[in-house]
Amino acid sequence: MSICYLDGSYQPLAEARISPMDRGFLFGDGAYEVIPAYSRRPFRVAEHIARLGRTLDAVRIPNPHPAAEWEAIVRELVARNAWDDQSIYLHVSRGPDERRNHAFPAVARPTVFLMSEALVTPPAEVLARGVAAVSAADFRWARCDLKTTALLANCLLRQVAVDKGCAETVLFRDGFLTEGAASNIFIVRDGVLLAPPKSHLMLPGITYDVVLELAARHGLEHAVREILEDEVRTADEVWLTSSTKEVLAITSLDGRPVGDGKPGPVGRTMLAWYQDFKSKVMRGD
Ligand code: PDD
Repeated sequence: MSICYLDGSYQPLAEARISPMDRGFLFGDGAYEVIPAYSRRPFRVAEHIARLGRTLDAVRIPNPHPAAEWEAIVRELVARNAWDDQSIYLHVSRGPDERRNHAFPAVARPTVFLMSEALVTPPAEVLARGVAAVSAADFRWARCDLKTTALLANCLLRQVAVDKGCAETVLFRDGFLTEGAASNIFIVRDGVLLAPPKSHLMLPGITYDVVLELAARHGLEHAVREILEDEVRTADEVWLTSSTKEVLAITSLDGRPVGDGKPGPVGRTMLAWYQDFKSKVMRGD
């Protein structure tokens, strides 16, 4: 039985209820985070809570908890659920109102909801083979740096991939790489790891930061700069990263092989560093 947290109480997920007048339901008016926990240790929880705070500030939802309280709720939820490795979904909406009205309620009563699922990361054979991706024009709004629950554009864009039997949609805006529908994208050209710079056009991923930290720590040549669509299409390697997918090679894009169509050496090395980091630092093995 999955245990969730709703507005101050831990309860079975199947019994949790919110009002249909909640602005999260009516308008997608909310912020969220997805935090992996390895061996019951929430990963980079402070960074996730800080990013949540930035989203809440930007969308003007009062932050219901100081960081220490958020961390305590996350840890308690992890403790109350069955799995050792979990994916914690954390959601704050602007809460319910008396009537449907675009303008904010005079007094905000944010709804706080967290749930846990078993953390499912890509199996070894998928990591070894890589995944297929398609591309699409990034038609989202101009605040993609905020992790809001208004994800219809991301859902539509991800579905473009699913409809073609692919794992992810790589997004281009005005001829430049932004990110994936639910991931960040890195490329490798001539042995150099390239990442698009953080801006209002992409989510500043926690995994993105870890990958760049690992590149710096191990002396892998890398640059953070604008990446042209054509550079992605002719890259030696393309990877996607996220809290749940970790570091995953994209081995075909729009039906054409990336490089030689297999996960490349730089990506395989990064994955090994990531897994080593995961077991040593995240799990505390
Ligand atoms: N999504 N970009 C987008 C649009 C995302 O939705 C995500 C993650 C990322 C990667 O961020 P991070 O490394 O912090 O997970 C980038 C989560 C996992 C989701 O919506 O389920």
